[in-house]
Amino acid sequence: MNTIAELVTWLRDEDAARLASLWQHADRVRRQSVGDQVHLRGLVEFSNHCGRACAYCGLRRDHHELVRYRMTEDEILQCAQQAVSFGYGTLVLQSGEDFGAGTDWVTALVRRIKRQTPLAVTLSLGERRPEELAAWRAAGADRYLLRFETSNRRLFERVHPPRPGEPPSDRIGLLRTLRQLGYEVGSGVMVGIPGQTYDDLAHDIRLFRELDLDMIGVGPYLPHPATPLADPVGRPSVPPADQVPSSELMTCKVIALARLTCPRANIPATTALATISPDRGRELGLQRGANIIMPNLTPARYRALYEIYPEKACLRETADQCHAGLASRIEQLGREIGGGRGDSPNFVHRRDASAANDA
Ligand code: 5AD
Repeated sequence: MNTIAELVTWLRDEDAARLASLWQHADRVRRQSVGDQVHLRGLVEFSNHCGRACAYCGLRRDHHELVRYRMTEDEILQCAQQAVSFGYGTLVLQSGEDFGAGTDWVTALVRRIKRQTPLAVTLSLGERRPEELAAWRAAGADRYLLRFETSNRRLFERVHPPRPGEPPSDRIGLLRTLRQLGYEVGSGVMVGIPGQTYDDLAHDIRLFRELDLDMIGVGPYLPHPATPLADPVGRPSVPPADQVPSSELMTCKVIALARLTCPRANIPATTALATISPDRGRELGLQRGANIIMPNLTPARYRALYEIYPEKACLRETADQCHAGLASRIEQLGREIGGGRGDSPNFVHRRDASAANDA
Protein backbone atom coordinates (compact mmCIF):
# COMPACT_ATOMS: atom_id res chain seq x y z
CA MET A 1 0.00 0.00 0.00
CA ASN A 2 3.02 2.24 0.31
CA THR A 3 4.16 2.88 -3.20
CA ILE A 4 2.58 5.40 -5.53
CA ALA A 5 2.07 2.62 -8.10
CA GLU A 6 0.10 0.52 -5.57
CA LEU A 7 -2.06 3.49 -4.61
CA VAL A 8 -2.76 4.32 -8.26
CA THR A 9 -3.73 0.69 -8.89
CA TRP A 10 -6.31 0.90 -6.10
CA LEU A 11 -7.60 4.26 -7.29
CA ARG A 12 -8.14 2.85 -10.78
CA ASP A 13 -9.53 -0.51 -9.65
CA GLU A 14 -13.16 -1.18 -10.61
CA ASP A 15 -13.32 -4.87 -9.69
CA ALA A 16 -16.22 -5.37 -7.26
CA ALA A 17 -14.65 -8.25 -5.33
CA ARG A 18 -11.32 -6.49 -4.86
CA LEU A 19 -13.07 -3.28 -3.79
CA ALA A 20 -15.15 -5.24 -1.28
CA SER A 21 -11.89 -6.47 0.22
CA LEU A 22 -10.58 -2.89 0.37
CA TRP A 23 -13.68 -1.73 2.26
CA GLN A 24 -13.41 -4.64 4.67
CA HIS A 25 -9.75 -4.04 5.31
CA ALA A 26 -10.31 -0.31 5.93
CA ASP A 27 -13.24 -1.05 8.24
CA ARG A 28 -11.21 -3.59 10.23
CA VAL A 29 -8.25 -1.20 10.61
CA ARG A 30 -10.68 1.56 11.62
CA ARG A 31 -12.16 -0.63 14.36
CA GLN A 32 -8.76 -1.76 15.66
CA SER A 33 -7.18 1.70 15.58
CA VAL A 34 -9.92 4.14 16.59
CA GLY A 35 -12.76 1.87 17.72
CA ASP A 36 -16.50 1.76 17.10
CA GLN A 37 -17.32 5.19 18.50
CA VAL A 38 -18.43 7.86 16.04
CA HIS A 39 -17.48 11.29 17.38
CA LEU A 40 -19.70 14.25 16.57
CA ARG A 41 -18.30 17.74 15.96
CA GLY A 42 -20.66 20.70 15.99
CA LEU A 43 -19.83 22.86 12.98
CA VAL A 44 -20.38 26.61 13.12
CA GLU A 45 -19.78 28.43 9.85
CA PHE A 46 -19.51 31.79 11.55
CA SER A 47 -18.44 34.03 8.66
CA ASN A 48 -18.58 33.80 4.88
CA HIS A 49 -16.37 36.82 4.28
CA CYS A 50 -13.28 35.84 2.33
CA GLY A 51 -10.28 37.73 1.00
CA ARG A 52 -9.26 34.94 -1.39
CA ALA A 53 -10.21 34.13 -4.96
CA CYS A 54 -9.98 30.34 -4.96
CA ALA A 55 -11.16 29.14 -8.36
CA TYR A 56 -13.43 26.43 -6.89
CA CYS A 57 -15.07 28.06 -3.88
CA GLY A 58 -18.38 29.92 -3.80
CA LEU A 59 -17.14 32.17 -0.97
CA ARG A 60 -14.42 33.68 -3.21
CA ARG A 61 -14.19 37.45 -2.85
CA ASP A 62 -15.23 38.08 -6.47
CA HIS A 63 -18.60 36.40 -5.92
CA HIS A 64 -20.31 39.76 -5.47
CA GLU A 65 -23.89 38.49 -5.48
CA LEU A 66 -23.31 36.55 -2.27
CA VAL A 67 -24.69 38.28 0.82
CA ARG A 68 -21.95 38.30 3.44
CA TYR A 69 -22.41 37.74 7.17
CA ARG A 70 -20.35 37.43 10.30
CA MET A 71 -22.00 36.04 13.41
CA THR A 72 -21.62 37.86 16.71
CA GLU A 73 -19.76 36.38 19.64
CA ASP A 74 -23.07 35.85 21.45
CA GLU A 75 -24.60 34.02 18.49
CA ILE A 76 -21.58 31.73 18.33
CA LEU A 77 -21.78 31.10 22.08
CA GLN A 78 -25.39 30.03 21.65
CA CYS A 79 -24.23 27.44 19.12
CA ALA A 80 -21.60 26.28 21.59
CA GLN A 81 -24.30 25.80 24.25
CA GLN A 82 -26.34 23.84 21.75
CA ALA A 83 -23.33 21.59 21.06
CA VAL A 84 -23.07 20.93 24.79
CA SER A 85 -26.77 20.16 25.07
CA PHE A 86 -26.56 17.69 22.17
CA GLY A 87 -23.63 15.98 23.93
CA TYR A 88 -20.99 16.93 21.34
CA GLY A 89 -17.40 17.11 22.58
CA THR A 90 -16.07 19.54 19.99
CA LEU A 91 -17.00 22.83 18.38
CA VAL A 92 -15.54 23.52 14.94
CA LEU A 93 -15.35 27.22 14.07
CA GLN A 94 -15.08 27.68 10.35
CA SER A 95 -15.02 30.76 8.11
CA GLY A 96 -13.61 32.14 4.90
CA GLU A 97 -10.26 33.86 5.15
CA ASP A 98 -11.88 36.71 7.05
CA PHE A 99 -9.39 39.21 8.42
CA GLY A 100 -12.39 41.07 9.83
CA ALA A 101 -12.36 38.22 12.33
CA GLY A 102 -9.07 39.58 13.64
CA THR A 103 -6.50 38.10 15.98
CA ASP A 104 -7.93 39.60 19.15
CA TRP A 105 -11.56 38.93 18.25
CA VAL A 106 -10.88 35.23 17.68
CA THR A 107 -8.69 35.07 20.79
CA ALA A 108 -11.50 36.47 22.95
CA LEU A 109 -14.01 34.12 21.34
CA VAL A 110 -11.88 31.03 21.96
CA ARG A 111 -11.22 32.10 25.57
CA ARG A 112 -14.90 32.55 26.21
CA ILE A 113 -15.89 29.19 24.75
CA LYS A 114 -13.16 27.44 26.71
CA ARG A 115 -14.18 29.22 29.92
CA GLN A 116 -17.90 28.63 29.59
CA THR A 117 -18.00 25.10 28.13
CA PRO A 118 -16.03 21.82 28.32
CA LEU A 119 -15.76 21.74 24.50
CA ALA A 120 -12.64 21.09 22.52
CA VAL A 121 -12.28 23.91 19.98
CA THR A 122 -11.22 23.31 16.38
CA LEU A 123 -10.40 26.28 14.17
CA SER A 124 -10.71 26.24 10.39
CA LEU A 125 -10.02 29.83 9.35
CA GLY A 126 -7.73 29.37 6.37
CA GLU A 127 -4.17 30.59 6.01
CA ARG A 128 -3.49 32.87 8.92
CA ARG A 129 -0.26 34.35 10.27
CA PRO A 130 1.90 32.22 12.60
CA GLU A 131 1.53 34.86 15.35
CA GLU A 132 -2.24 34.54 15.19
CA LEU A 133 -2.11 30.76 15.22
CA ALA A 134 0.13 30.99 18.29
CA ALA A 135 -2.21 33.45 20.06
CA TRP A 136 -5.25 31.23 19.48
CA ARG A 137 -3.40 28.16 20.67
CA ALA A 138 -2.43 30.08 23.82
CA ALA A 139 -6.09 31.06 24.25
CA GLY A 140 -7.00 27.38 24.35
CA ALA A 141 -7.75 26.32 20.76
CA ASP A 142 -7.09 22.60 20.51
CA ARG A 143 -7.13 21.74 16.82
CA TYR A 144 -6.75 23.34 13.39
CA LEU A 145 -8.02 22.20 10.00
CA LEU A 146 -6.31 23.38 6.82
CA ARG A 147 -6.68 21.22 3.74
CA PHE A 148 -3.75 21.32 1.33
CA GLU A 149 -6.37 20.53 -1.38
CA THR A 150 -3.83 18.94 -3.76
CA SER A 151 -0.16 18.04 -3.44
CA ASN A 152 0.35 19.01 -7.09
CA ARG A 153 1.98 22.40 -6.64
CA ARG A 154 1.20 23.60 -10.15
CA LEU A 155 -2.47 22.66 -9.89
CA PHE A 156 -2.70 24.20 -6.41
CA GLU A 157 -1.35 27.52 -7.67
CA ARG A 158 -3.75 27.53 -10.60
CA VAL A 159 -6.85 27.09 -8.45
CA HIS A 160 -5.57 29.08 -5.48
CA PRO A 161 -4.17 32.47 -6.50
CA PRO A 162 -2.19 34.35 -3.82
CA ARG A 163 -3.73 37.31 -2.04
CA PRO A 164 -2.81 40.56 -3.82
CA GLY A 165 0.77 41.53 -3.02
CA GLU A 166 1.52 38.30 -1.21
CA PRO A 167 3.73 35.35 -2.14
CA PRO A 168 2.14 32.00 -3.08
CA SER A 169 0.80 30.10 -0.10
CA ASP A 170 2.75 27.49 1.75
CA ARG A 171 0.08 25.34 3.36
CA ILE A 172 2.50 22.48 4.04
CA GLY A 173 4.72 24.93 5.93
CA LEU A 174 1.69 26.20 7.88
CA LEU A 175 0.72 22.64 8.79
CA ARG A 176 4.21 22.15 10.23
CA THR A 177 3.88 25.43 12.18
CA LEU A 178 0.54 24.26 13.58
CA ARG A 179 2.14 21.01 14.68
CA GLN A 180 5.00 22.87 16.43
CA LEU A 181 2.47 25.05 18.24
CA GLY A 182 0.93 21.90 19.73
CA TYR A 183 -2.29 21.83 17.73
CA GLU A 184 -3.93 18.61 16.75
CA VAL A 185 -3.51 19.02 13.00
CA GLY A 186 -5.96 18.20 10.23
CA SER A 187 -5.70 18.49 6.49
CA GLY A 188 -7.09 16.86 3.40
CA VAL A 189 -8.02 17.26 -0.23
CA MET A 190 -10.83 17.57 -2.72
CA VAL A 191 -11.33 14.56 -4.95
CA GLY A 192 -11.82 15.19 -8.67
CA ILE A 193 -10.56 18.76 -9.05
CA PRO A 194 -10.39 19.49 -12.81
CA GLY A 195 -6.79 18.76 -13.78
CA GLN A 196 -6.19 16.31 -10.89
CA THR A 197 -4.69 12.98 -12.00
CA TYR A 198 -4.63 9.57 -10.32
CA ASP A 199 -0.94 10.06 -9.77
CA ASP A 200 -1.62 13.38 -8.01
CA LEU A 201 -4.17 11.75 -5.74
CA ALA A 202 -1.77 8.92 -4.87
CA HIS A 203 0.81 11.55 -3.87
CA ASP A 204 -1.87 13.30 -1.77
CA ILE A 205 -2.44 10.08 0.19
CA ARG A 206 1.27 9.60 0.67
CA LEU A 207 1.55 13.18 1.93
CA PHE A 208 -1.13 12.45 4.59
CA ARG A 209 1.34 9.86 5.93
CA GLU A 210 4.42 12.10 5.63
CA LEU A 211 2.68 14.90 7.51
CA ASP A 212 1.57 12.37 10.15
CA LEU A 213 -1.88 14.00 10.15
CA ASP A 214 -4.16 13.70 13.16
CA MET A 215 -7.30 14.42 11.12
CA ILE A 216 -7.96 13.85 7.42
CA GLY A 217 -10.95 15.35 5.60
CA VAL A 218 -11.72 14.39 2.00
CA GLY A 219 -14.73 15.21 -0.10
CA PRO A 220 -15.63 15.29 -3.78
CA TYR A 221 -15.07 18.51 -5.70
CA LEU A 222 -18.48 20.03 -6.51
CA PRO A 223 -18.69 22.76 -9.18
CA HIS A 224 -20.12 26.09 -8.05
CA PRO A 225 -21.58 27.97 -11.05
CA ALA A 226 -20.29 31.35 -9.83
CA THR A 227 -16.67 30.18 -9.93
CA PRO A 228 -14.12 30.02 -12.79
CA LEU A 229 -13.46 26.31 -12.26
CA ALA A 230 -17.07 25.51 -13.16
CA ASP A 231 -16.47 26.97 -16.62
CA PRO A 232 -15.13 24.32 -19.02
CA VAL A 233 -13.33 27.06 -20.95
CA GLY A 234 -9.86 27.69 -19.63
CA ARG A 235 -9.90 25.34 -16.70
CA PRO A 236 -6.99 22.97 -16.01
CA SER A 237 -7.26 19.79 -18.03
CA VAL A 238 -5.42 16.50 -18.38
CA PRO A 239 -6.03 13.55 -20.73
CA PRO A 240 -9.49 12.17 -19.86
CA ALA A 241 -8.03 8.79 -18.89
CA ASP A 242 -5.90 10.51 -16.22
CA GLN A 243 -8.61 12.80 -14.78
CA VAL A 244 -9.89 11.68 -11.35
CA PRO A 245 -13.72 11.63 -11.23
CA SER A 246 -15.37 13.51 -8.36
CA SER A 247 -17.54 10.52 -7.48
CA GLU A 248 -18.87 8.78 -4.41
CA LEU A 249 -16.74 5.73 -5.26
CA MET A 250 -13.51 7.69 -5.67
CA THR A 251 -14.10 9.61 -2.43
CA CYS A 252 -14.69 6.32 -0.58
CA LYS A 253 -11.46 4.91 -2.00
CA VAL A 254 -9.51 7.89 -0.70
CA ILE A 255 -11.15 7.53 2.73
CA ALA A 256 -10.29 3.81 2.82
CA LEU A 257 -6.70 4.35 1.65
CA ALA A 258 -6.26 7.23 4.11
CA ARG A 259 -7.40 4.90 6.91
CA LEU A 260 -4.91 2.23 5.83
CA THR A 261 -2.00 4.66 5.55
CA CYS A 262 -2.88 6.69 8.68
CA PRO A 263 -4.64 4.15 10.96
CA ARG A 264 -4.94 6.38 14.05
CA ALA A 265 -6.22 9.53 12.33
CA ASN A 266 -9.72 10.88 12.87
CA ILE A 267 -11.46 10.81 9.49
CA PRO A 268 -14.91 12.38 8.89
CA ALA A 269 -17.61 11.24 6.51
CA THR A 270 -17.85 14.74 5.04
CA THR A 271 -20.79 16.95 4.11
CA ALA A 272 -19.58 16.99 0.50
CA LEU A 273 -19.82 13.19 0.39
CA ALA A 274 -23.33 13.41 1.85
CA THR A 275 -24.14 16.03 -0.80
CA ILE A 276 -23.28 13.88 -3.83
CA SER A 277 -24.83 10.87 -2.15
CA PRO A 278 -27.68 12.03 0.12
CA ASP A 279 -29.09 8.55 0.72
CA ARG A 280 -25.98 6.77 1.83
CA GLY A 281 -22.88 8.97 1.62
CA ARG A 282 -22.40 9.34 5.37
CA GLU A 283 -23.07 5.66 6.00
CA LEU A 284 -20.69 4.52 3.28
CA GLY A 285 -17.97 6.81 4.62
CA LEU A 286 -18.39 5.39 8.12
CA GLN A 287 -18.26 1.81 6.78
CA ARG A 288 -15.18 2.42 4.64
CA GLY A 289 -12.79 4.02 7.11
CA ALA A 290 -14.38 7.13 8.61
CA ASN A 291 -15.14 7.63 12.33
CA ILE A 292 -16.35 11.25 12.58
CA ILE A 293 -19.50 13.19 11.62
CA MET A 294 -19.72 16.98 11.67
CA PRO A 295 -23.37 18.00 12.20
CA ASN A 296 -24.03 21.58 11.14
CA LEU A 297 -24.98 24.00 13.96
CA THR A 298 -24.93 27.14 11.83
CA PRO A 299 -28.22 29.03 12.40
CA ALA A 300 -30.69 28.52 9.55
CA ARG A 301 -30.65 32.20 8.54
CA TYR A 302 -26.93 32.01 7.68
CA ARG A 303 -26.61 28.47 6.50
CA ALA A 304 -27.61 28.96 2.86
CA LEU A 305 -25.12 31.85 2.63
CA TYR A 306 -22.17 29.58 3.47
CA GLU A 307 -22.32 28.27 -0.03
CA ILE A 308 -18.85 26.88 -0.78
CA TYR A 309 -20.66 24.65 -3.29
CA PRO A 310 -24.39 24.48 -4.19
CA GLU A 311 -27.06 22.29 -2.58
CA LYS A 312 -24.96 21.37 0.43
CA ALA A 313 -26.42 18.51 2.46
CA CYS A 314 -28.60 19.61 5.42
CA LEU A 315 -29.08 23.03 3.81
CA ARG A 316 -32.66 23.35 4.96
CA GLU A 317 -32.42 21.49 8.25
CA THR A 318 -32.25 23.06 11.66
CA ALA A 319 -29.56 21.90 14.06
CA ASP A 320 -32.25 19.88 15.89
CA GLN A 321 -33.35 18.11 12.71
CA CYS A 322 -29.75 17.48 11.72
CA HIS A 323 -29.08 15.98 15.15
CA ALA A 324 -32.26 13.92 15.45
CA GLY A 325 -31.57 11.62 12.50
CA LEU A 326 -27.97 10.97 13.43
CA ALA A 327 -28.16 8.76 16.48
CA SER A 328 -30.40 6.19 14.83
CA ARG A 329 -28.35 6.15 11.63
CA ILE A 330 -25.19 5.53 13.63
CA GLU A 331 -26.83 2.78 15.69
CA GLN A 332 -28.13 1.08 12.56
CA LEU A 333 -24.53 0.68 11.47
CA GLY A 334 -23.76 -1.12 14.73
CA ARG A 335 -21.74 1.83 15.98
CA GLU A 336 -22.16 4.14 18.95
CA ILE A 337 -21.90 7.87 19.51
CA GLY A 338 -18.58 8.74 21.12
CA GLY A 339 -18.40 10.50 24.48
CA GLY A 340 -15.78 13.03 25.58
CA ARG A 341 -13.64 15.19 23.31
CA GLY A 342 -12.72 12.46 20.86
CA ASP A 343 -9.09 13.53 20.46
CA SER A 344 -7.25 11.92 17.58
CA PRO A 345 -5.55 8.71 18.79
CA ASN A 346 -2.69 9.71 16.50
CA PHE A 347 -2.21 12.95 18.44
CA VAL A 348 -2.55 11.28 21.83
CA HIS A 349 0.00 8.65 20.83
CA ARG A 350 2.53 11.24 19.66
CA ARG A 351 2.06 13.37 22.77
CA ASP A 352 2.51 10.37 25.07
CA ALA A 353 5.57 9.20 23.16
CA SER A 354 7.21 12.62 23.41
CA ALA A 355 6.34 12.85 27.13
CA ALA A 356 7.98 9.45 27.65
CA ASN A 357 11.05 10.70 25.76
CA ASP A 358 11.29 13.78 27.98
CA ALA A 359 10.96 11.78 31.20
N1 5AD B 1 -16.42 21.55 -3.79
C1 5AD B 1 -16.03 20.74 -2.80
N2 5AD B 1 -15.35 21.16 -1.73
C2 5AD B 1 -15.06 22.47 -1.66
N3 5AD B 1 -14.38 23.17 -0.73
C3 5AD B 1 -14.37 24.46 -1.12
N4 5AD B 1 -15.01 24.61 -2.27
C4 5AD B 1 -15.46 23.39 -2.65
C5 5AD B 1 -16.16 22.88 -3.76
N5 5AD B 1 -16.56 23.67 -4.76
C6 5AD B 1 -13.74 22.54 0.41
C7 5AD B 1 -12.24 22.83 0.41
C8 5AD B 1 -12.04 23.58 1.71
C9 5AD B 1 -13.20 23.10 2.53
C10 5AD B 1 -13.55 23.98 3.68
O1 5AD B 1 -14.25 23.04 1.61
O2 5AD B 1 -11.52 21.61 0.44
O3 5AD B 1 -10.80 23.30 2.32
